Amino acid sequence: MAEENFDLVVIGAGPGGYVAAIRAAQLGMRVACIDKQYLGGTCLNVGCIPSKAWLDASHKLYQAKHKFKEIGIQVADVRADVTAMAARKDKVVQQNTAGVGYLFKKNKVETIMGAARIASPASVAVKLNAGGERTLNAKRILVATGSAPIRIKSLPFDGKHIINSDHAVNLTEAPKKMVVVGAGVIGVEIGSVWSRLGTEVLVIEFMDRILPGMDREMTSALQRLLEKQGLKFKLKAAAESAKVEAGRVKLAWASGDEKAVEDCDKVLVAVGRRPFTESLGLAEAGVQTDPKGFVKVDGKYQTNVPGIYAIGDVIGGLMLAHKAEEEGVAAAELMAGKAGHVNYHACPNVVYTHPELAQVGYTEEDAQKAGHEVRVGKFPFSANGRARCMDDTDGLVKIVGDAKTDRLLGVHVLGPEASDLIAEAVVAVEFAASCEDVARSFHAHPTLAEAIKEAALGVEKRSIHI
Ligand code: FAD
Ligand code: NAI
Repeated sequence: MAEENFDLVVIGAGPGGYVAAIRAAQLGMRVACIDKQYLGGTCLNVGCIPSKAWLDASHKLYQAKHKFKEIGIQVADVRADVTAMAARKDKVVQQNTAGVGYLFKKNKVETIMGAARIASPASVAVKLNAGGERTLNAKRILVATGSAPIRIKSLPFDGKHIINSDHAVNLTEAPKKMVVVGAGVIGVEIGSVWSRLGTEVLVIEFMDRILPGMDREMTSALQRLLEKQGLKFKLKAAAESAKVEAGRVKLAWASGDEKAVEDCDKVLVAVGRRPFTESLGLAEAGVQTDPKGFVKVDGKYQTNVPGIYAIGDVIGGLMLAHKAEEEGVAAAELMAGKAGHVNYHACPNVVYTHPELAQVGYTEEDAQKAGHEVRVGKFPFSANGRARCMDDTDGLVKIVGDAKTDRLLGVHVLGPEASDLIAEAVVAVEFAASCEDVARSFHAHPTLAEAIKEAALGVEKRSIHI
C-alpha cells in the first residue's frame, strides 16, 4: 500500500488544480491531484483548447474561401471536411492532456483518477475510476473543481438537439441551422465556428449588446464585423422555451411585444457557468459558499475551514484558465509561506473570433465609474502597414488613460492576433505604465503592435500615421 499522507491534496486537475499541484511540488510538498474525468479539466478537454482548434481550422477555411483570391492565391474546390477537423481537434486535446500527465510525473505529483469527497478537513475519500476506494490524509486540501454550464429549466439539455458547450465542441457535422442562446464568449466563438462551416447561426441575447463586460465601443464594432461574416443577432430578446419535435428544435423567443418560434437543428445554450461542487462534501465539511454556490475564500485562498483552500472557477470572478492558473501558483506559494499574489486588474480577457477582441484593465465605462477623468487614444488597423500586408485590416486599438496622471488604465485591441498583442499591454498595466511609456517604447516595424504605440500616442492626439 502506497504512503497515503500528503502535504497537499488537490481536487480537480484543470488549469487551476494542475498548476497548483506542480507549483506545490516544486516548493517541496508531497502532492496528489485527483480528477474524476480527465487531466486538464474543462480548459483542455471541452473548453479553451478544443474551441480554439475549431476556431483556427474554420478560420483557415474562411480565409481560403474569401481571402486567398484577393492576395493572389487561386484555389479550387475548397471544402470543409468537418469529420477530419473533429479528429484533428481530438488529437490536439490528447497532446495537451498527455502533457499534463508528463508534467505530473516529472514533478512527482501523484495522479489519482476518481471522484473525490472531503471526508474531514484533513482527509479526502476517493472513489477510484478503476474500482475501489482510497483515503488520503492531507495537511491541506485545495478545491479546484471548476464549473459547469448553467442549466435553464425551459431549455433542457438532451445533448443532441439542445446542447451546451461540452456537446458543441464535440459535434462531428455542421448543423444546417443553430440558434445560440447568449451572446457571451461561448456564443460568439462557437457561433463563429459553425457559421464559417456553413451553418446558419442566429444568436439570441437578453441584453442590448453582445459580450457584456467588455468595452461597448469595441463589442459594437465586433458585432458589425460578425454580422458581415453572416452571424445574425437578436438583442434584447429572451429565449423562452425549446421543444424537440421530430428531430428538430422549436425555440420560442420574445422581445418586448415581438414573439417568434425558430425551427432549427440545434439550440446551443450558452448563458454562463456555475460552480461545480456536486458530491464534494463541502457542506458536511462546513465550507461556506455564497448564494450562487461559489466557494468563499479570503485573500490567501483559504476557506472558512482551516486547511481547506479553493481556487479557479469554483471561487468565481473571471472564469478564465489563466486566472485559475495564477491563483493556483499564488495559493501554493502562500501555503509554502511565500508571498503569492494575483493582480486581477491586469488579467487579460480575450475573445477568439476573427478579428479577435482582447482587453486588459478598465473599459472606458468602468474607468469613468471608478472616478477617473479619461482620455482615449485610438488607431485603426486599416492604417497599419503590417495589417495591410496581411490583408487583415478590420478593427482598432483603443487606449484608455487617466487625463490627470496619464496612467494607462485600459487597453482594448480588436484586430488580427489581438490575443498575442495584448501581452504587451498586460505587462504595461502590471508595471503601472503611463500612456507615454508605451508611446515612447520602440515597436518593430512593420508589426501589428505598432497600432498599440500609435493608439498610445493618440491619447495626446499625436499619432503619426493617421
Ligand atoms: P476546470 O477546468 O473546470 O477543472 C475542474 C476539474 O475538476 C475537472 O477536470 C473536473 O473533472 C474535476 N472535478 C470536479 N469535481 C471533482 C471531484 N469531486 N473529484 C475529482 N475531480 C473533480 N478560458 C480561457 O482563459 N481562455 C479560453 O479560450 C477559454 N475558452 C473556453 C471555452 C469553452 C467552451 C469553455 C466552456 C470555457 C473556456 N474557458 C476559457 C474557461 C476555462 O476553461 C475555465 O476558466 C478553466 O477551465 C477553469 O479552470 P479550473 O481549474 O478552475 O476548473
Ligand atoms: P457569458 O457570461 O460570457 O455570457 C452569457 C450571455 O448569455 C450573457 O451575454 C447574458 O446576458 C446572456 N444570457 C443569459 N441568460 C440569457 C437568456 N435567458 N436568454 C438570452 N441570453 C441570456 O457566458 P458563456 O458564453 O456561457 O461563457 C461562460 C464562461 O466561460 C465565460 O464567462 C468565460 O469566463 C468562459 N469562456 C472564456 C472564453 C475565452 O476566454 N475566450 C471562451 C469561452 C468561455
